[in-house]
Amino acid sequence: MTSFPTNRLRRLRTNQTMRDVLAGVRLSVDELIAPLFVREGSGIANPIESMPDQFQFSVDTALEIARRWSDLGLRSVLLFGISDEKDDVGSEAWNDAAAVQRLAGEIKTALPHMLVITDVCLCEYTAHGHCGTLLDKDGPMDVDNDATLESLARVAASHARCGADIVAPSAMMDGQVQAIRSMLDADGFTNTAIMSYAVKFASALYGPFRQAAEGAPSSGDRKSYQMDYRSPLQIYPEAAQDVDEGADILMVKPAWTYLDVISEVRRSFDLPLAAYHVSGEFSVLHAAAANGWIDLKNSAIEVTTAIKRAGADLIITYFAEQLAKWI
Ligand code: PBG
Ligand code: ZN
Repeated sequence: MTSFPTNRLRRLRTNQTMRDVLAGVRLSVDELIAPLFVREGSGIANPIESMPDQFQFSVDTALEIARRWSDLGLRSVLLFGISDEKDDVGSEAWNDAAAVQRLAGEIKTALPHMLVITDVCLCEYTAHGHCGTLLDKDGPMDVDNDATLESLARVAASHARCGADIVAPSAMMDGQVQAIRSMLDADGFTNTAIMSYAVKFASALYGPFRQAAEGAPSSGDRKSYQMDYRSPLQIYPEAAQDVDEGADILMVKPAWTYLDVISEVRRSFDLPLAAYHVSGEFSVLHAAAANGWIDLKNSAIEVTTAIKRAGADLIITYFAEQLAKWI
């Protein structure tokens, strides 16, 4: 029998100061990215029913929130636009005068040190709610990948023109990073970075978000363009393709339920890695806490720390504001 040094682990745990000093993984506000939903109008702060403490804002109220977050030490926001102007291709998404674009510009003017990241997708702007143009809108659901690439590139260029520091394509179209990179470079935005949703699974955990962003598909699902969570062999090639196409930051989504994926991507690629702690993962914690079954603060800190421990450098989380106060 090997003799086990019984006291060694206990020694490291009994003294609280020793424990804190030696803790390997510690959250920092710097690495948190706060999602922000913006729509047309003014003075708006509509609570999102499925996501406690989350709101749809208008540009003016969103700017105030960004200011408050900046005062709390948060460094980055991820903007999502919600649009009433919907058509088959989602053309409002590349309107320089739309809410996301205006908010990006206003944040950069008022808070130049805030990193503005914008979601680049079409589902909040298409009448059918899919992330791209459909091949045949009356036939079976299928997106027109190549037509969508052009739209996504136009959206990214519009965001960059209006002030975005980083664009984050989430449509999961093949070739989207390359299409966006070429358009950005051609337009002179060589310093605008791309954070790609490299590994994004078709997940039931996006449910609350679809209510928040009013972008649920009116028919069909997103399984033809998002990844199958049963297929770990797709992880490496999906991420590798985005690296080849010019992604500057990779992202895994969801996060809490995909810690194995985060650690695999962390070990395989030398790019900064973001993980998206998604709406469903956020809302389950709130629901349990509201019932008195778990402690919200301790659970949120623990889950977020687990995401970091798995290998995420950046964490997109609806808990960002609360974590900034707690940690
Ligand atoms: C849309 C998009 C979604 C999320 C971010 N961008 C929903 C989806 O893909 O269906 C989900 C975020 C969350 O659940 O918090 N492209
Ligand atoms: Zn989408």
